[in-house]
Amino acid sequence: MRAVVHDRYGPPEVLRVADVERPVPKDDGVLVRVHASTVTRGDAMGVRSAEYRFTRLFTGIRRPRRTIGGTELAGRVEEVGAAVTEFRVGDDVFGAERGANAEYVAVRESGVIAPKPTGLTYEEAAAVPDGALIALSCLRPVSPLRGKSVLVYGAAGSIGTAAVQLLAHHF
Ligand SMILES: NC(=O)c1ccc[n+]([C@@H]2O[C@H](COP(=O)([O-])OP(=O)(O)OC[C@H]3O[C@@H](n4cnc5c(N)ncnc54)[C@H](OP(=O)(O)O)[C@@H]3O)[C@@H](O)[C@H]2O)c1
Repeated sequence: MRAVVHDRYGPPEVLRVADVERPVPKDDGVLVRVHASTVTRGDAMGVRSAEYRFTRLFTGIRRPRRTIGGTELAGRVEEVGAAVTEFRVGDDVFGAERGANAEYVAVRESGVIAPKPTGLTYEEAAAVPDGALIALSCLRPVSPLRGKSVLVYGAAGSIGTAAVQLLAHHF
């Protein structure tokens, strides 16, 4: 399959499209044919450029350990493992998994994957998980928030738009 890979840290020029092995889902995983993926701030700053050097403790000291970039995805289930119960071949899904800037991604059923809402395009759904998960991880520790006011700084961004929606409908 084709994927966007980087063998070293650096500016966007380190990225290239390459042919790589297609991932094989485990028994409890699904293989998703990716229709839309994104480049998040975390992908660019944390993983590709590693401009804050301490992040290399997690991603590889000298070179990136994982060479395929991207986290967010939306697409269609192409294969399911023998133990998978929630998804079937042909289901439209969205979620988050490392190596999402590729034609195929293997995601565990217990991982970050859910049916794609029918009202969202693949492009719209792919842009949801990263900001929503980070917003959720910020809001959960300070909840319950009923009766309190929250200032969302940067409310038009990935995390901010999700925070506003979560505050309006969930917390
Ligand atoms: N996404 C991640 O993986 C991640 C992980 C950890 C931490 N963070 C941090 O969380 C923050 C938000 O991330 P994000 O992914 O939501 O970024 P984003 O999608 O680029 O959104 C940034 C938001 O901040 C606003 N903004 C930019 N400069 C501003 C300024 N000087 N004063 C007030 N608002 C300003 C932008 O407004 P406009 O739209 O009007 O420009 C936008 O609403 C960033 O600092 C990022 O480094 C992100």
